[in-house]
Amino acid sequence: MDLQNKVALVTGSSRGIGRAIALELGRRGADIVINHRRNSTRAQAEAVAQELQYLGRRSLVLKADVADPQDVTQMFSKIQSEFGKLDILVNNAASAVFRPLLQLEEKHWEHVWDVNLRAITLCIKHAVPLMTTGAIVNITSLGSIKYLPNYGALGAAKAAIESLTRSYAVELAPAIRVNAVCGGLVDETGFSEMMPQDEKERIVQRTPAGRMVKPNDIAKVVAFLCSDDAEMIRGQSIIVDGGIALGLLK
Ligand SMILES: NC(=O)c1ccc[n+]([C@@H]2O[C@H](COP(=O)([O-])OP(=O)(O)OC[C@H]3O[C@@H](n4cnc5c(N)ncnc54)[C@H](OP(=O)(O)O)[C@@H]3O)[C@@H](O)[C@H]2O)c1
Repeated sequence: MDLQNKVALVTGSSRGIGRAIALELGRRGADIVINHRRNSTRAQAEAVAQELQYLGRRSLVLKADVADPQDVTQMFSKIQSEFGKLDILVNNAASAVFRPLLQLEEKHWEHVWDVNLRAITLCIKHAVPLMTTGAIVNITSLGSIKYLPNYGALGAAKAAIESLTRSYAVELAPAIRVNAVCGGLVDETGFSEMMPQDEKERIVQRTPAGRMVKPNDIAKVVAFLCSDDAEMIRGQSIIVDGGIALGLLK
């Protein structure tokens, strides 16, 4: 258990990829702060906490909108009083409006920047004083480097996060490692469930690995980046997509 005695905050961990990351870090020994945004997902967040308890880990469920400076301040002050430190921050929470660029209104742009970009800067600012050493992992997607329909705004935010990842990696070194995990379309998530089955089948056909990415594929790479084995990996965005971005024509 390489993450024993570590404390990890995974933003947006009530479901989907964040849940898988929380459980994988827990399996490796870390105590976990589970964050979610809505009252209606409290039960899902509590269910993740229950699974962590079965693994013998401590956990804390905190409802906070990561785009809201007050919520973020309160979340970190609760982490400080409950655990007294933080070793791992996974910036996973995301939310967007999926439309062609010209159909996006000002409020949509603000939402995408606030939840996906500003939130990360807020969380890192509050996390660093609690971290003497450790790792920060930002979750991005292939939209940072590829055109995806209706994904222009979130794709731009993800590209900016990868750029910030490089800057933070230098500015927080040597004690804190900062990297990103850039996922291809991930099965068993809200996003993939919105997709028609035939579209998913086309993705599988174009994926050299022969299947779609699953939440745990992302979680295992995040856990590796949080481990001491990743000491010399800094500022990188590791693509976990089964090879689809290689663009092989089949
Ligand atoms: N799904 C994919 O195919 C895919 C592919 C590549 C990368 N990614 C990236 O992986 C990450 C997770 O994606 P996912 O598909 O697992 O997401 P998801 O199923 O939509 O879950 C989003 C999580 O983020 C939380 N959240 C949303 N807005 C928040 C806010 N303002 N403050 C705090 N928490 C907030 C949600 O909380 P509530 O439950 O309370 O709403 C939920 O826990 C994202 O960064 C996404 O861009 C996803």
